Amino acid sequence: MAQSNPGPVNQVEDDQCLVGKIIDRWVCDKRQECLEKVDHKKECFCKQVQNALDKMFRAHKYDSLEEGIQDMEYEDPFFQFGYMYKHSMFSARSLTNIIQSPEVVEKFKIQVRNNGTGTINVACLGGGPGSDVLGVLDYFTKDGFEGKLVIHLYDRQDKWGPCWESLKTAINAELHDDRVTVSFHDFDVTTADKNKPDIENADIITMHFFMEEVYSERENPTVMECFDNIIQKAKPGTLFLYSGMYMYQAIDWVHQLLNNCKILTPGTELTNRSYRDSRTKVTEWIPSIKVDLKQEGDLKLFDDIKEELKIPNSTEDFKVSQRYNGEVVYRLYQK
Ligand SMILES: C[S@@+](CC[C@H](N)C(=O)[O-])C[C@H]1O[C@@H](n2cnc3c(N)ncnc32)[C@H](O)[C@@H]1O
Repeated sequence: MAQSNPGPVNQVEDDQCLVGKIIDRWVCDKRQECLEKVDHKKECFCKQVQNALDKMFRAHKYDSLEEGIQDMEYEDPFFQFGYMYKHSMFSARSLTNIIQSPEVVEKFKIQVRNNGTGTINVACLGGGPGSDVLGVLDYFTKDGFEGKLVIHLYDRQDKWGPCWESLKTAINAELHDDRVTVSFHDFDVTTADKNKPDIENADIITMHFFMEEVYSERENPTVMECFDNIIQKAKPGTLFLYSGMYMYQAIDWVHQLLNNCKILTPGTELTNRSYRDSRTKVTEWIPSIKVDLKQEGDLKLFDDIKEELKIPNSTEDFKVSQRYNGEVVYRLYQK
């Protein structure tokens, strides 16, 4: 009898870690949606994704971020696929690795121990399609956490709504743990009736690759009101985990916003990353981690999807590739 071929998707599913399995399912779902939009014409699919990634690449340069990229077309399914395929795994795993770094993990463990309710509430501001949710989930599922975990993602629903639906489906299919709840909320720092997230119960607030993208709006009164409100509403003891690109203007802005919070992760010269505090005029070091997904033994890297993204007989240097490595700066504050 002929042996059945398990196919690449099954291979990924079999030996992938939990979060990798969820991402895999989720990305495949979006790929299907995109392929249907172009009548399964692979070349057309690849070109649209490449076009989206080129635009995103240009938008995430420091100069563009300073000018503002609020009009980024994240609502376009090809942008969504491009983002999820290229960045989500890097984003999720970099957040997990930051949480697992010695100084941060110790504070997280204290936060969990001191929390009498047995429920840990995490709010991910600017959580995008859901990578931060997966990073937080990755940490808590591996940590042997025994209480309840409630994760709230806040971002613009008009940009990411459909991705949240499919992420919910993928999480439900892979994670069989009713102690974990994930919910998604419409949040826009620039819109008066969407800029006040319910973070009163949050024990931990993450801002991962987010503040750079709203930095250009920092003087907009609605945005100022948004962050004032968040900081005021947060309960005493809340941890604020800020992480992302080494964009010293954004680092300084966040530091001034969290002026009344205690910084728990002092930087050292070793990281080679510094910025000038605009208030004290002192040069400060900022911690960072290097992430290399190829070194993360439990992750399979979409080998099946990679093949799909090759344009047959093309001489073009097609640039849709996953982000494997990079450096991420972070700071942990406590209210
Ligand atoms: C680079 S993405 C980071 C997403 C996610 N944290 C991650 O690491 O994958 C930046 C995010 O900021 C969000 N963002 C940009 N402007 C925003 C605004 N005015 N209000 C709320 N979120 C915004 C975008 O929708 C996007 O999801």
